[in-house]
Amino acid sequence: MKEKYKPLFEPFTFKSGVTIDNRIVMAPMTTNSAFENGMVTTDEHNYYKRRTKGLGAVITSCAQVREDGKFAGSLSAASDMHIESLAKLADTIKSTGTKAILQIFHVGRMGSARTLRGLQPVSASAIAAMRENAEIPRALADEEIHDIIEAFGQATRRAILAGFDGVEIHGANTYLIQQFFSPHSNQRDDHWGGTLEKRMNFPLAVVDSVKAAIKKHADRPFILGYRISPEEIEEPGITLDDTLALLRELKEKELDYIHISTGHYLQSSIRNSEDQTPVLKAIVETVGADTPIIGVGQIITPDDAISAIEELNLPLLAIGRELIVEPDWIIKVKTGKESTIRTEIHLEDRADLAFPDAMWEYIQTRPGWLPIVK
Ligand SMILES: Cc1cc2nc3c(=O)[nH]c(=O)nc-3n(C[C@H](O)[C@H](O)[C@H](O)COP(=O)(O)O)c2cc1C
Repeated sequence: MKEKYKPLFEPFTFKSGVTIDNRIVMAPMTTNSAFENGMVTTDEHNYYKRRTKGLGAVITSCAQVREDGKFAGSLSAASDMHIESLAKLADTIKSTGTKAILQIFHVGRMGSARTLRGLQPVSASAIAAMRENAEIPRALADEEIHDIIEAFGQATRRAILAGFDGVEIHGANTYLIQQFFSPHSNQRDDHWGGTLEKRMNFPLAVVDSVKAAIKKHADRPFILGYRISPEEIEEPGITLDDTLALLRELKEKELDYIHISTGHYLQSSIRNSEDQTPVLKAIVETVGADTPIIGVGQIITPDDAISAIEELNLPLLAIGRELIVEPDWIIKVKTGKESTIRTEIHLEDRADLAFPDAMWEYIQTRPGWLPIVK
């Protein structure tokens, strides 16, 4: 390995006591290839087996905590029936020597009646997302909100029994937890909304529920992470100041890490184009001394990774698409073969890349997501 890449390969120990071998984790990326009932398919096993060796940890595709929180092809952690299937996934990842973290989520208003078998999607308020064909969700009743909070704890118990090394609460990318924090999707005036503080109540209650499940069921150190999208473009929408306030509260929860979901690791505010400071910089300065931050977004080369660590003072990095494109990324950097890292997908590489068919089809509907050379 080149001397300059050594900082990427320093082990890291989380507050919970789990140690990972290096600073690179695989970003959660849904493969859309679970069975209809949320069980893991052979396609998904092959996809992970091909690209997890040598990474510090893998954060899985998101798994719903309840059946009314799914999208097509998402994994499920919604019932005890799923434990065996999840255990096989944990085994697949861990058999390559990597730590396995299950991402848990509820889709909220980003769901559709079609994938929910006729059920109307649910959310904080009956307000549709700002996207084409978005359905108007049903506002959850107080009792249902408590049930969903409990479901996050139950999904955590299942992840523990399945042998995962941790869970990541998916509080980002416009799903239900973010919907409760957002002044766009949450226009309630009860305990769960109305002020910035009350919009934090659902995310914080989910964290407490997950922490209680870990305390009760984990007989080994178990990682707890939380993913957040720092801003929303909607008006009203989540501002960076809102996020910094939530992060200060999350800091008190003694999480193992907070994962900041941005399109580029150097991304500045999407709401205030006059401020060119990377949002990650403001976040690291606010809570980074107490809570390890994971940065993500467009990390392609090991030089990008080093610059993210050094410029932003980040302890950990997640890589998403580039690990689809180059499953041997970490091994190539470790063995000094970084000049052979692939940055494009050629059609003839599709089998070698162990692309699940459903994921391949999905990617075709998102031109520009992956650098596919036709
Ligand atoms: C195919 C695909 C699926 C994704 N699925 C998830 C997901 O399940 N959960 C999540 O938090 N983010 C998901 N993301 C976002 C990634 O985790 C990551 O934040 C994003 O791709 C930017 O990082 P990158 O430039 O390294 O790919 C997905 C991204 C892609 C491309």
